[in-house]
Amino acid sequence: MIDVEKIRKDFPILERKIRGKKLVYLDSTATSQRPRQVMEAVRRFEETKNANVARSIHTLAEEATAEYESARDKTAKFVNAAESREIIFTKNTTESLNLIMRGWGEKFIKPGDRIVTTIMEHHSNFVPWQHLAKSRGAKFEVIDIDEDGKLKEDELDKVRGAKIFAFTAASNVLGTINDAKRLCKIARDGGAVSVVDGAQSVPGMPTDVKAMGCDFLAFSGHKMLAPFGIGVLYGRRELLEAMDPFLYGSEMIKKVDVNNATWNVLPHKFEAGTPPVDEAVGLGAAIDYLNGIGMENIRKHEEGLAKRLIEKIGAMEGVRFFGPRKANERTGLLAFEVEGIHPHDVAVLLDEEGIAIRTGHHCAMPLHMRLGMPGGTNRAGTYIYNTIDEIDQLAGSLGKIRKMLKR
Ligand code: ALA
Repeated sequence: MIDVEKIRKDFPILERKIRGKKLVYLDSTATSQRPRQVMEAVRRFEETKNANVARSIHTLAEEATAEYESARDKTAKFVNAAESREIIFTKNTTESLNLIMRGWGEKFIKPGDRIVTTIMEHHSNFVPWQHLAKSRGAKFEVIDIDEDGKLKEDELDKVRGAKIFAFTAASNVLGTINDAKRLCKIARDGGAVSVVDGAQSVPGMPTDVKAMGCDFLAFSGHKMLAPFGIGVLYGRRELLEAMDPFLYGSEMIKKVDVNNATWNVLPHKFEAGTPPVDEAVGLGAAIDYLNGIGMENIRKHEEGLAKRLIEKIGAMEGVRFFGPRKANERTGLLAFEVEGIHPHDVAVLLDEEGIAIRTGHHCAMPLHMRLGMPGGTNRAGTYIYNTIDEIDQLAGSLGKIRKMLKR
């Protein structure tokens, strides 16, 4: 068990009042809050070591470079990458996925090739592949879900013979945790490169890219206690070596003359321009913080919150929720519909109570169309600092809203 009350003391924002009420933050699926330890690590870096990295040789520059590379080493260990050079720092998950689309996809996808993804994807792992298929004359195929919000088994055959299989490790709407290891094996056996969106899984459960057997894994710092502006792409070394750069300019080159340029070694080949150094330092501190709690413990905590969400919110009269029925098959979020009440009205009325949820399409329009929810859904997303009591408060407030607006 994790000590939530102790953890909460590290998050100053949780002391905030919203409209006179204590903040109940249930939008961590969109972005997590940051603990003092992360903010202090960034401030310490800025106050004592700030300099550009991998350029000058003065003491500050060397210390800044060491901090930046130490964040990369921590990230590599966190996901069990074979080598730190397999970790590329980007801006966010979206940029990481676009990097694969541009660097690998545009080089290797030919007319007639097949690219497979799933209907439960966030736009970041859907639109780049749809665009690539269109621009290359390739076929774009989408695996459907069943009534429980899981991938349809009989559609996994689509992966055989495809060039790319891009799927999420955990859905940001359904909460479904996919068996990423099995899906990566299906990709490998079928001859496809596996691209895993880890934006929702990496913050909440142990990640081991070697055990998973993925070719690429993308995730964001800001959903796992780090500042905005830092994302990660893990790629298997051979694939990264074979790819073209994504952005061109400084730092990513080895040698340039007026006619030609050659590319730097990994990971620098993919990190053109001055990188997000403060943000990387923040990510390193966030990883230290998460490791201090333990990812297995965080997973157990989220599962407990998922269970309560299903029992208290999912079971309410007039409420329908989406995704698997069992908490052990879900992350700690719940997307739901309150019968007869527009999601925006629900969110605005909850805000009056100090409760922050997300409403709308959650960057997953194809999925909402598939669910028959073109107007969007409500979504409560939890993390390490949320309590059972906060979920009960959400249930109480939803009950009041239903009574007030029921037609
Ligand atoms: N991807 C984020 C979400 O699901 C922004 O809310």
